[in-house]
Amino acid sequence: MEIFLDTANLEDIRRYAFLLDGVTTNPTLLAQEDSRGDWKRVVRTIAEMVKGPVSVEAVGETAGELVAHAEELTSLSPRVVVKIPMTEEGLRATRALSGRGISTNVTLLFSANQAILAAKAGATYASIFVGRLDDIGHDGIAVVKEAVDIYRIQGYSTRLITASVRHPLHVTAAARAGTHAITIPPTVLALMGSHSLTDIGIARFTKDWKRLVG
Ligand code: E4P
Repeated sequence: MEIFLDTANLEDIRRYAFLLDGVTTNPTLLAQEDSRGDWKRVVRTIAEMVKGPVSVEAVGETAGELVAHAEELTSLSPRVVVKIPMTEEGLRATRALSGRGISTNVTLLFSANQAILAAKAGATYASIFVGRLDDIGHDGIAVVKEAVDIYRIQGYSTRLITASVRHPLHVTAAARAGTHAITIPPTVLALMGSHSLTDIGIARFTKDWKRLVG
């Protein structure tokens, strides 16, 4: 399972880079970083900090607009994977970009059927937003399970990203469901590694070690 960090915060990316397979951003995350309109510099810096793909979102209503924006984004770094919205025009753009060898991440997926169409359009990645599904009383992880099964049965090569992750239980459940990748906010990544019993254990062993060596 690839692990991406879901952020545009350079400090967090630098801190966790050694664990990461890549980064995902979106316009909201880039805007939060107060890049004073210098979002291109932020994207280039992220791409230098991690070895894997960096997802950056293309904005546009028509396939032509999305493809044009995708070309601008990929000129920033060969690591850029273009996020394309899950619309009919987005799927047309995905097909065109895939034909030109440009990697895509079809985003804002909320059903297994949308995941099927993203795969048929030739997407490199497809992102299912589990947290936003849970927010409206649906079962986000159930959609991931369904899509993972379908991709395996049908032999699709698109990689499913579990996105909109809200807490560590989403990560465990998505991993058990067989997600190919997951994008995790820095707050959730920090929680994944911590446990009060680990802290208590370290304190006790440190104290006893000092007693042992005098
Ligand atoms: C995925 O690539 C998105 O950036 C992200 O996971 C969206 O999550 P949100 O629902 O917390 O905004």
